[in-house]
Amino acid sequence: MKKLISKQLFVAKAFLDLVALFVLFTSPLAAQEVSVLESEAMTIIAKRCLSCHNAEMKPADLVLTTRETAVKGGKSGPALSPKHPEESLMVRKIFADEMPPGNPLTKEEREAVRGWIDAGAPWSMTLAKASAVRPRAGLNWWSLQPLRTVSVPSPAGIPPDWSASPVDRFVYAQLKEKGLKPSPPADRRTYIRRATFDLLGLPPTPEEVESFLQDKSENACEKLIDRLLASPYYGERWGRHWLDVIRFGESHGYEQNHLRERAWPFRDYIIRSFNLDKPFSRLVLEQLAGDQIAPNDPEIEVATGFLVAGVHDTVPIANLEGQLQQRANDLDDMVLTTGAAFLGLTVNCARCHDHKFDPILQADYYRVQAAFAGVHHEERELATQAERDQRHSRERPILDELDRVKERLAKLKKQVMPLVEKGRDEIAKHYRPAVDSKVNEEIFSPASARLVRMTILATYDQGPGKGAEMATHLGRE
Ligand code: HEC
Ligand code: HEC
Repeated sequence: MKKLISKQLFVAKAFLDLVALFVLFTSPLAAQEVSVLESEAMTIIAKRCLSCHNAEMKPADLVLTTRETAVKGGKSGPALSPKHPEESLMVRKIFADEMPPGNPLTKEEREAVRGWIDAGAPWSMTLAKASAVRPRAGLNWWSLQPLRTVSVPSPAGIPPDWSASPVDRFVYAQLKEKGLKPSPPADRRTYIRRATFDLLGLPPTPEEVESFLQDKSENACEKLIDRLLASPYYGERWGRHWLDVIRFGESHGYEQNHLRERAWPFRDYIIRSFNLDKPFSRLVLEQLAGDQIAPNDPEIEVATGFLVAGVHDTVPIANLEGQLQQRANDLDDMVLTTGAAFLGLTVNCARCHDHKFDPILQADYYRVQAAFAGVHHEERELATQAERDQRHSRERPILDELDRVKERLAKLKKQVMPLVEKGRDEIAKHYRPAVDSKVNEEIFSPASARLVRMTILATYDQGPGKGAEMATHLGRE
């Protein structure tokens, strides 16, 4: 058991590392540079070489879709010697402006290819023609860059009463750049209405409007916003948006759309988290690994409801392939939501092939998926160990009593059953046997007759057979 848990912990950690890798917070610079070099080289080859050096056309027998074919080379031998750009035929052809014919690479592109080969020519994917596929974004894609501190602009001519908030400074700089003037400030009545709708999802009451209009203090707006942020409705309003982002549902959402009667503690956890102003990084951690970081704290353990809050197929499937497919779909749902909600990336596209647009390999998908291998759809008790022990000691005497009653019942049954059997046989003698759906035999004393009439008085479904009659000739007329 201990081993299992530590393995899960390890997997959860591995996953978090992977998340960190995606956002490039912790990956070592060297590895990061190498992947940037790779993605640049891949883009150049896909765009500038593969319209000719693909598997169908292969001029001079050279195919540049994989590292192996490039190393193997064409008519003149190897085209790529990793770590040795000067020996690579590719580089010589490129620098001699021979390739691509009549359409040489730019200086930057040439240097990029040279630098990439110098770094060992990492090449982890099969390339496709750029005309057929948009090249994938590299790890140098803007949204994958580490967070940096930027300087807040202070454009000339900024009005003295303009907000001091850095966000508003950026807004002003953009307005100025586009030659636009800021809108005039909203009047008080509009302001409180907008703010209340925005933060609570409801209009202000007439009394709230009135008291805001009367408030002549300098920080009236700040006080209003503080009051709204402190309202418990704030968590309900904004928690709902988050529940949408992470596809939370209170039913399984598949063919048998059964209600999830006990999904609400997770919903309440989200509302609570918003009202507590929990840092986002903490919210992410708790949802992915709450049971690992706080196994004895139900308030946090409940957060992992995130993993199983999506569509779940509950229809039992008899064959193994179907069951494996169902399981793969469950895990896919976890990968999908984790990627989309926390990374803003459709990681799940790489379930069947390397991502066509983002720098995610199919191998990455299964690395992420492996982090969830221990997660199954089940209900778990939300209680601390002490609460569990307490409940067990409360229930113990009741369960013991139940056992004693069951034992007595079994003894009584043993005494009574022979009498019941006997009575049943006795009663049966007085009745005709019950009707059987296959064979019914009835014996009566012989009588001479020309015809026998059978009258069906009722059928099980009260259908048209009711009251039908059949006559059977028994002998010659
Ligand atoms: C418009 C089509 C076309 C494009 C685009 C093109 N090539 Fe070529 N490439 C050829 C042809 C045709 C030959 C054979 C010509 C020859 O032998 O002189 C060739 C030959 C080569 C050879 C020599 C192969 C050998 O074994 O003799 C190398 C290396 C090469 N190309 C690399 C590249 C690289 C790298 C790119 C992209 C930067 C590229 N080519 C883009 C058409 C193309
Ligand atoms: C369930 C498996 C599966 C998933 C998930 C999947 N694809 Fe595909 N995709 C395929 C198959 C199969 C092909 C066709 C195979 C081929 O031509 O290589 C394909 C082809 C493509 C192509 C055509 C380009 C090409 O190389 O021929 C694009 C673009 C594409 N997928 C994008 C996506 C995106 C974006 C996602 C996520 C939103 C996605 N795929 C998710 C299976 C999948």
